[in-house]
Amino acid sequence: MADFPVLVGKTYSIKTFGCQMNLHDSERVSGLLDSVGMNEASSMEEADADIFMTCCVREKADTRLYGQVSSLVSAPIPAAGKRVVAVGGCIAQRDGENLRNNIPNVDVVFGTQAIQNLPHLLTEAFGSESHTTLYADTEETYKNFSTDLPSNRVQSFHAWLPIMTGCNNFCSYCIVPYVRGRENSRDIEDIVIEAEHLVHDGVREITLLGQNVNSYGRSIYGEPRFAELLRRVGNTGIERLRFTSSHPKDLSTQTIAAMAETPAVMPHLHLAVQSGSTNVLRKMNRRYTREDYLRLVDNIRASMPDIALSTDIIVGFPGETEEDFKQTLSLIEEVGFSSAFTFIYSKRPGTPAEKIIDPTPHEVIQERFERLAQLVSDLSYKSNQADLHTVAEVLVEGLSKSDETIMVGHSRKNQTVHFPIPEKMIAQDLIGKIVDIQVDEARTWYLRGPMIGDPR
Ligand code: SAM
Ligand code: SF4
Ligand code: F3S
Repeated sequence: MADFPVLVGKTYSIKTFGCQMNLHDSERVSGLLDSVGMNEASSMEEADADIFMTCCVREKADTRLYGQVSSLVSAPIPAAGKRVVAVGGCIAQRDGENLRNNIPNVDVVFGTQAIQNLPHLLTEAFGSESHTTLYADTEETYKNFSTDLPSNRVQSFHAWLPIMTGCNNFCSYCIVPYVRGRENSRDIEDIVIEAEHLVHDGVREITLLGQNVNSYGRSIYGEPRFAELLRRVGNTGIERLRFTSSHPKDLSTQTIAAMAETPAVMPHLHLAVQSGSTNVLRKMNRRYTREDYLRLVDNIRASMPDIALSTDIIVGFPGETEEDFKQTLSLIEEVGFSSAFTFIYSKRPGTPAEKIIDPTPHEVIQERFERLAQLVSDLSYKSNQADLHTVAEVLVEGLSKSDETIMVGHSRKNQTVHFPIPEKMIAQDLIGKIVDIQVDEARTWYLRGPMIGDPR
């Protein structure tokens, strides 16, 4: 704390965009700033330091940031006399100092691997008269994983546990490898020790994080060791173990066996397919075919017949034809995904796909997107209906945003589950508990029913 006296007693607020990596990086930023004597403010307007953790995976995420940072210019200056605006995450890494050309009221820009420099950068920014951009990027500053920093978990019962950073896959549409760097795995012993500490702290569910967890270990051990990691983390006493994301080309038979044989691993797998057309998959540089993917799903289901599968799909990759798109529809129907994130392709400057000319009119892509969304919701409904009149084991997360008498959590298969607070109980008795729900209603986006037995 003594190293950053200017920051002691100052307040901060963090706004996070993008994926779980950013959510977790924000927990690290918060832990780090608390450790130097800062406190979290109740709103962005009141905070002395406003920190934006940004995403540029699609164009929409870019534009949202500009609006939000710019609007702070008109907010009253906080009590301490100066507002500092800091931008981190993937846009910061991509744009560096040039970010100020688009958003002039930014004081600090810090890249994705420069989180540990934030106290130093904020100290300089609070001390300087005018707005100056202080940019910390990878080259000068990257010494440790941000994972070595303290973390303020948003939920006491769930923890994100990063096992690697970066990505080596260079899917032709994707900006992530350019803003998160090359794949870099953490030491297996460090991860297991961190998992043991989390279990000791009362964490009941861990999600292992990486852009391609299946190749965990390759960068430091010369071969993937994800299967071994799953078994070892699964043995720490953690009750529920999840992981994301998995690249189909690297999901090995050893990993499938480890999933099936480790009781803590939840019966849910997110396995992004992106397209059902081998032709499009090749142009996307995904390095598997439609048939490879379907074979993989058969192998997974042979070991884990009840597993729920979810996926990511991109519609409108440049040059995608109606025939290609129909192949995507038929693949998702054949697999029977329980849920899917669907995206319209967004051109990302600097990626190889940027250069592919696309004659397809936007209306055609939009219409395909809507057909896909309909099929995805039909499949979700069907998959939830299969669980009607069963008992779902749910980790309770909190109150419903729209109804204060309803609690929300997730089942082992990752379905959202709603249940009324039982008589003589309050929400606090239930948050972080595992409960059994008698499913008597199965909708497209959630299951619902009364709690049976006692919370545990
Ligand atoms: N590494 C993860 C994987 O391969 O499964 C996913 C990372 S990315 C943050 C999440 C999803 O965003 C991708 O699976 C893809 O569907 C989507 N995505 C990435 N780049 C995109 C782009 N340029 N346009 C539209 N969607 C994109
Ligand atoms: Fe992007 Fe592909 Fe890496 Fe996922 S695997 S982060 S989609 S480049
Ligand atoms: Fe976005 Fe960066 Fe994640 S671009 S999706 S926040 S890795």
